[in-house]
Amino acid sequence: MKILEAIGGRRSIRKFLGKEIAKDTLEKILSAGAQAPSAKNRQPWKFIVIPKNRVSEMLGVMRSGLEHEKSGLGLLPNYTQFIGSAERTFCILEEAAVTVFILNTENNFSLHQSAEEKLFEMGNVQSIGAAIQNILLAALEYGVGSLWICDIYFAYQDLLAWLNTDRQIIAAVALGYPAENPFPRPRKPLDAVIEWK
Ligand SMILES: Cc1cc2nc3c(=O)[nH]c(=O)nc-3n(C[C@H](O)[C@H](O)[C@H](O)COP(=O)(O)O)c2cc1C
Repeated sequence: MKILEAIGGRRSIRKFLGKEIAKDTLEKILSAGAQAPSAKNRQPWKFIVIPKNRVSEMLGVMRSGLEHEKSGLGLLPNYTQFIGSAERTFCILEEAAVTVFILNTENNFSLHQSAEEKLFEMGNVQSIGAAIQNILLAALEYGVGSLWICDIYFAYQDLLAWLNTDRQIIAAVALGYPAENPFPRPRKPLDAVIEWK
């Protein structure tokens, strides 16, 4: 598949067929993630793959996270209006063939940072964004659909404990064979995002 065709053809997929993804296909997709550029070549990513048989356990953890958010004990007390949408995202994971958590191996989750730590973290998070986009595009090559997910932040502390890590969980990606073919979501016009000096 041509690169621009893949970039233009990718969609967020929220409905999946029940079909499994072969392990070697998954490895190739994640290997594309690991080929992303990274700040100082630190390669600050780790991909944790949750197979279908651990999904109900994972969803239990996510739902208990949502309960913590609802009772004001989570990290996002000012975002309660988005809890319903996070619940819907978690339901999508029930259908996906696998969920992949992407961790930042260079930073832990800290609410207090110096400017240096913040800038170091920004480099790592950009690198991980590049890795995630590589994963989404490589998935297309194998006919696999994907959804990039940050609603996991509504279960952040519960997921840290379940994954037994003190590293930042940057995102999750749901992967599976698509059961929908969504229309493209609108984009801002180019002149709104490019400034020629
Ligand atoms: C950082 C990031 C976080 C996202 N988190 C979610 C999410 O939690 N749930 C969801 O349904 N979609 C999520 N999305 C998908 C966006 O909604 C989607 O990319 C956007 O609406 C554009 O649609 P498209 O991907 O089909 O082009 C996320 C995308 C990004 C890049």
